[in-house]
Amino acid sequence: MKAEFWLERWEQNQIGFHQDEFNNHLQAFWSGLAVPAGGQVFVPLCGKSRDMLWLRAQGFMVTGVEVSPIAVRDFFAENGLDVTISSQGKLERWESDGLVILLGDFFDLQAEDVADCSAVFDRASLIALPPDMRLRYAQHFISILPTHAQTLLVTLEYAQEEMKGPPFAVGEEEIQGYYAQAFALERLFVTDVLAENPGFRQRGLTRLEEKVYRLTPA
Ligand SMILES: C[S@@+](CC[C@H](N)C(=O)[O-])C[C@H]1O[C@@H](n2cnc3c(N)ncnc32)[C@H](O)[C@@H]1O
Repeated sequence: MKAEFWLERWEQNQIGFHQDEFNNHLQAFWSGLAVPAGGQVFVPLCGKSRDMLWLRAQGFMVTGVEVSPIAVRDFFAENGLDVTISSQGKLERWESDGLVILLGDFFDLQAEDVADCSAVFDRASLIALPPDMRLRYAQHFISILPTHAQTLLVTLEYAQEEMKGPPFAVGEEEIQGYYAQAFALERLFVTDVLAENPGFRQRGLTRLEEKVYRLTPA
């Protein structure tokens, strides 16, 4: 989806993807990535995800990127964080005690913006984008990320013909297609989440699976 679509979603407060609780897969699988203590974690398309607070509480530095000014403003305000704002290339840098969100377009990020990142937590980024943008996203992701960085990736799978995205269905083969050149892909967990998402059942889905992967530099 183009950035305008997401800006409008935030303006209209249509943010059903946002979780008030910390992500359970993050909590279950993060330690398996063996990120160095105090290391920096990149959170692409971060919204106002509270998972950034969880990562910071584990002692990691966090760098998110998000296109919606409402999301960025709300993240710091809702969590009672004093923020310093400066500019960083084409993006605006919002910062509070080791938590940074770069406000702007993911596609404007440069390698130097994420040069210190040793890991990535990527929830609901690929599924937010239509197929042509997913390819661009993955190519840009690989091109800017330090070659040693590992990723914990959370996606959704369903029969795409049953519902129009977003969220889009992003299957394992597709992920392999994007990332096999750079990463070994390992599926860590699959869970059926249709029952806890009645809205998607109403939109026509008969199956909805959440999948968790680890991407390790090849
Ligand atoms: C499905 S939401 C996921 C948010 C977050 N990862 C979470 O778990 O709550 C996708 C987010 O990506 C943001 N986004 C979409 N396109 C973007 C772009 N090109 N650059 C930066 N952020 C973008 C949207 O504003 C939205 O907040």
